[in-house]
Amino acid sequence: MIRTIVLIASLFSVSKYGEAAKMHLDSSSLDGGWRARNANGSIDIEAVVPGGIYTDLREARILTEDIYYRFNDINYRWVSKENWTYSLKFEVEDTFIEKQEIFLVFHGVDTVASVYLNNEHIGNTDNMFVRYSFPVKSIVKLGENTLEVQFESSITAAERRYEQQALQYPVPPTCVPDEYRGECHANHLRKMQASFSWDWGPAFPSAGIWKNVELEAFDVAVLREVTTSATLTNSSWLLQIRIFLETGEQILTVSGTFDARLDIDVEPVTETAELLPDEPGQFSKTLTMEIPKDKVEVWWPNGFGSQKLYTLSVTVRDDNETVIGQVSLRIGFRTIELVQEPILVQEEVRGLSFYVKVNNVPIFSKGSNWIPSHILPEKSAEPDVINDLLSSAKAAHMNMLRVWGGGLYESDLFYRLADELGLLIWQDFMFACSMYPTNREFLDSVTKEVTQQVRRLHHHPSVVIWAGNNENEAALRDNWYGTSTDFLLYKSDYIKLYVDTIRPVVLAEDTTRPFIVSSPTNGIQSELDGYIAEDPYSPLYGDVHYYNYLADAWNPNTYPNTRFASEYGIQSFPSLKTLSLVSIPSDLSMQSEFIDHRQHHPGGNDELRYEIEQHMKLKKYETPEEEFPTFIYFAQINQAMSIKTATEFYRRGRGLLTSDGQGVTMGALYWQLNDIWQGASWASLEFGGRWKMLQYFARNFFAPALVSPSVTPAGELEVHLISDYLEDKETLLNVSVYKWDSLTPISQTSNTYTLQAASVKKVFSNNLLDYLRDAGCGQDAEKNCFLYFSLTTKNGDITSPDNFLFPGPLKELTNFEAANITLTSVTPGTDANTFEIEISTDRVALFVWLEANDVAGEFSDNGFLLVTPTWKVEFTAKTDVTSDKLKNALTVVSLGDSY
Ligand SMILES: *[C@@H]1O[C@H](CO)[C@@H](O)[C@H](O)[C@H]1NC(C)=O
Ligand SMILES: *[C@@H]1O[C@H](CO)[C@@H](O)[C@H](O)[C@H]1NC(C)=O
Ligand SMILES: *[C@@H]1O[C@H](CO)[C@@H](O)[C@H](O)[C@H]1NC(C)=O
Ligand SMILES: *[C@@H]1O[C@H](CO)[C@@H](O)[C@H](O)[C@H]1NC(C)=O
Ligand SMILES: *[C@@H]1O[C@H](CO)[C@@H](O)[C@H](O)[C@H]1NC(C)=O
Ligand SMILES: *[C@@H]1O[C@H](CO)[C@@H](O)[C@H](O)[C@H]1NC(C)=O
Repeated sequence: MIRTIVLIASLFSVSKYGEAAKMHLDSSSLDGGWRARNANGSIDIEAVVPGGIYTDLREARILTEDIYYRFNDINYRWVSKENWTYSLKFEVEDTFIEKQEIFLVFHGVDTVASVYLNNEHIGNTDNMFVRYSFPVKSIVKLGENTLEVQFESSITAAERRYEQQALQYPVPPTCVPDEYRGECHANHLRKMQASFSWDWGPAFPSAGIWKNVELEAFDVAVLREVTTSATLTNSSWLLQIRIFLETGEQILTVSGTFDARLDIDVEPVTETAELLPDEPGQFSKTLTMEIPKDKVEVWWPNGFGSQKLYTLSVTVRDDNETVIGQVSLRIGFRTIELVQEPILVQEEVRGLSFYVKVNNVPIFSKGSNWIPSHILPEKSAEPDVINDLLSSAKAAHMNMLRVWGGGLYESDLFYRLADELGLLIWQDFMFACSMYPTNREFLDSVTKEVTQQVRRLHHHPSVVIWAGNNENEAALRDNWYGTSTDFLLYKSDYIKLYVDTIRPVVLAEDTTRPFIVSSPTNGIQSELDGYIAEDPYSPLYGDVHYYNYLADAWNPNTYPNTRFASEYGIQSFPSLKTLSLVSIPSDLSMQSEFIDHRQHHPGGNDELRYEIEQHMKLKKYETPEEEFPTFIYFAQINQAMSIKTATEFYRRGRGLLTSDGQGVTMGALYWQLNDIWQGASWASLEFGGRWKMLQYFARNFFAPALVSPSVTPAGELEVHLISDYLEDKETLLNVSVYKWDSLTPISQTSNTYTLQAASVKKVFSNNLLDYLRDAGCGQDAEKNCFLYFSLTTKNGDITSPDNFLFPGPLKELTNFEAANITLTSVTPGTDANTFEIEISTDRVALFVWLEANDVAGEFSDNGFLLVTPTWKVEFTAKTDVTSDKLKNALTVVSLGDSY
């Protein structure tokens, strides 16, 4: 049955001249009206725009369960194999029709569709990252209009394109590994690549209109976008403002008045101009505003200062002084540089540096990699979710996130929050782990995509690096997809896409930010080497991605010295709580089909057990179900310890320069910040935002001041003091040696050191075993003792968490037993929704893990070492809760419980 809904849309305003009238065709403005149906009409439901078919079918109860529940990624795959049609009937009034020009604008269509207005074909879409404007003046009519968007299944569309291309030569990969439970050929569509599955996420090849749709009626032009870039001269900021207008292709000039003003006491700029088109229907005007330096505060990344933003208002008027369009942007003033300068060892050049300078200050980039927050693009920009995830990144002292190339160009909200939180954004273009086609249509579509996205994100001070793709230089060099027999062919495609198509667009649109072709890459050196370096993972150039699941990830000597570690990671499982939301009790075991199903990384679960058993003793449990909570806890410990080890290694690397030129590391972005669903992954934040142990560890290992102990391959104990502060600090370093059976250290030394600004300093070096024996650890010193470090200042003006070092493997400790940890009290804290939790212990306890179970919130520390009889932790609840309720919800475990 097809129900007809006729809507009177009065949701637009028209003035007599000039001003554009917009009629929003999204569901909330129209109060419904959209419908979706499958090819033969057996399903015909109310739909929501912006939205998507999975969400609509779920809302209509045709999908009866949460899409993430158990095996629904497979059970609901039929949805993505259908061809869906979205349709709308809407009314248009005469004042609207009278305008010179009318555009139908789709801000995001996912993905392959034909668009019909009043049964006339007005165009096609095949790139979800592109805004489509269709001129419809001659088709739209007074009264009722019918709009239809006919989607083709993205699975069949991708396959067809692959087959078509393969008539000449195939563009691989031919498919994802079986373990991904995914679909093939995502690389043939300009669609979120992870939508066809990834090694951390399911396949939900979505379809739908995922961003707003509107009709625009105007006499002159519409104001489409405003970009800004601020460059610093000796005494002032030059703010370059580019204003982009769009109009009918037959229009040969547009004249108007262009006005820009800031919300501070500086002269506005107003210019009148008659513009010629940049290309048919596209006009632009540049204004330059000079702002005395002392009138604005600069914008800093998190940890270096405040994130001051200013409001820029841009207004365009036509010759009759009627406003054509008005835009307000929040902008920041900062300079950015990607420094790739020769590293000299005894006057010999040994590679190039690779780091970011903001406002002329070298920044050690600390952070992680961002993936889409939901597999359905229409759900990827939930304000609460994005705010929560990005706030967690900031709370962990991160200053940079890399928006990874297999996901989405994120929402305006995402980048606005990044601006406000001081998170620098390394923005990949959306190409990942594949070869890509380079036919004319594909390249044209990519050109539009890159132009539009660069313009959209341009004004955000947080965005600092553009990168062409994720891992495609490495994939080609290392023959991941069997391209080596035709290397030159695929290399030429690579150059066509990233070097000859994307790069010139980026450089023309944005003169202020660096563009690197790939990640990992050797940067400038890759370019000199013809874009496919001999070794894109070279430690002497650019950035490195590093994964090694067979190495001892708790041993810092296994990691590569690199200029910039842009990916490194170890898996774990999310909490039982998170998994329970999408499973039944019998799913919760390492032997279950469910857990196997959620592990997309080939061999991943075996690796996890191997890594755990390398370091810890996992007690034998009667059944896999009984073992499971402990397995999760151990896997999270392993992940947290591995990434702690790696990250501290990279941070210490800032102060390292080996004789062959390795070191001078200036970035550590672990893989990955967030999760797309509830399953095994490398994330530190679970789907839903809950902090894994790694996230708590990150807040410590990314702290601006850090005492970082390590042991060299020769058995030397070294202690480094690391500082990101821009001033020196006088510090006191305490080193204590404990035996496992006592809360009283057997030795304590105390020394003062100057913590040097923005540097790494080795303050201590001694043979580890000698040191322990001298402290009184006796025979088997490495099994009897551990070291504990604290770094403080007199006035407490640094953030520096305590640190520790285990001299031997944790599975062979002398006198290590389960601690009896009790929750002594829970009392209201100083701020609303904060609580002080006091715990006590009778023994040294490792990886003390508090859980508030049903009470959402975060602890001030978790997974910590307990070396004092009592200890206080603060809890910040995300909802209203009483001390009693929190106390009842709290549970605590530590390592010894499961030994
Ligand atoms: C400006 O106003 C005059 C009448 O006052 C009108 O004829 C003309 O079309 C208007 N121009 C534009 C660009 O709106
Ligand atoms: C309509 O198509 C669906 C799947 O494509 C099929 O399962 C169903 O039987 C069809 N219904 C009719 C009435 O043809
Ligand atoms: C969807 O459309 C494609 C292309 O027209 C066609 O090959 C395919 O059979 C259609 N699938 C269904 C389920 O109707
Ligand atoms: C900026 O200052 C430098 C050094 O003080 C000087 O050489 C240069 O000419 C100045 N540039 C401008 C544009 O004033
Ligand atoms: C450091 O050691 C000194 C001397 O042993 C002691 O007085 C002080 O409390 C210790 N500080 C910390 C933070 O442990
Ligand atoms: C653990 O400590 C609590 C409080 O200190 C005590 O009441 C309890 O008996 C202890 N339990 C064990 C098993 O020692």
